[in-house]
Amino acid sequence: MRILITGAAGLLGNELVQSVQAKGWESIAASRVDWDLAKPEEAAYLIGKYKPDVTVHCAAETNVDKCELEPDWAKLINEDATAALAAAIQAAGSRLVYISSCGIFSGDSRVSYLETDIPKPRTIYAASKYHGELRVQETNPDFLVCRVGWLFGGSLTQKKNFVEARRKEALTGKPMMSANDKWGSPTWAKHAADRIVDLIDISAGGVAHVANAGVVSRHEYVCGILAALNSTATVQAVDSSNFKRAAPVPDFEAISSVRNKDWGMSPLPSWQEALADYVKIYAAIKTP
Ligand SMILES: NC(=O)c1ccc[n+]([C@@H]2O[C@H](COP(=O)([O-])OP(=O)(O)OC[C@H]3O[C@@H](n4cnc5c(N)ncnc54)[C@H](OP(=O)(O)O)[C@@H]3O)[C@@H](O)[C@H]2O)c1
Repeated sequence: MRILITGAAGLLGNELVQSVQAKGWESIAASRVDWDLAKPEEAAYLIGKYKPDVTVHCAAETNVDKCELEPDWAKLINEDATAALAAAIQAAGSRLVYISSCGIFSGDSRVSYLETDIPKPRTIYAASKYHGELRVQETNPDFLVCRVGWLFGGSLTQKKNFVEARRKEALTGKPMMSANDKWGSPTWAKHAADRIVDLIDISAGGVAHVANAGVVSRHEYVCGILAALNSTATVQAVDSSNFKRAAPVPDFEAISSVRNKDWGMSPLPSWQEALADYVKIYAAIKTP
């Protein structure tokens, strides 16, 4: 199997490259140089050049506040580019796996969203990701959409390493604050990538929620990170109105899967177990 991964330098993309290689498949790590999503019309060139069996479309504009301020940009990068890629893949007769987000629901629920729940995006980012899903579904009958939870993990140089960012924040000695009214499912990017690769292996189709088990507030999540790092820093639980944001992000973004049993798969481990396992590796990569 030859698997092309867009956004391969990103947090999840990088883990996917490693998971694909661990499976013994060929990985093609595509970057902005291979295809700039701002030029959707060049998607066909990318697919024609590498002729993958499966493309995992991870690349996206992931800056939620930028998307809110620049809706045309969000649509171009997250929806129009996805539509062009879907068309190119359909024409080539190969498969598309689209990475979507836990953030596409209204956030009004207080129990984890399932694949059977109806999305109702609240932000421009979420709308652009969900519209990307719809473009994929209408173009590629054999699609797989994987909605992932709040991702953590990655190397120390990974720009979006949430654990490393909290460690550095704690080291400043300044008071730390975190929201106690935003809820989600923290998910180790490695676990998400391994699960996505397993779903590809069994040719799973449709929508899949991919997240470590558990529902937690941002505040409890950050406390959990500091505890796992053996930090004595404390974090004040505050209302999210303390963090001024352009995007009205939903209060509740936790997801879980009702489809695991269809595929004969166990739920992913709890976010606490995943974090503990990541921190073991993280300690090793932190030590020169
Ligand atoms: N992180 C989360 O908690 C989370 C939660 C739910 C869903 N997701 C979804 O998961 C996927 C991966 O997220 P992530 O956190 O791994 O994101 P990330 O670290 O921000 O990586 C995004 C990747 O997209 C690439 N990219 C952005 N704009 C591009 C453009 N115009 N042309 C080509 N490539 C471009 C980036 O390239 P550069 O490296 O060159 O910047 C980067 O490699 C995304 O689809 C995201 O919507 C993430």
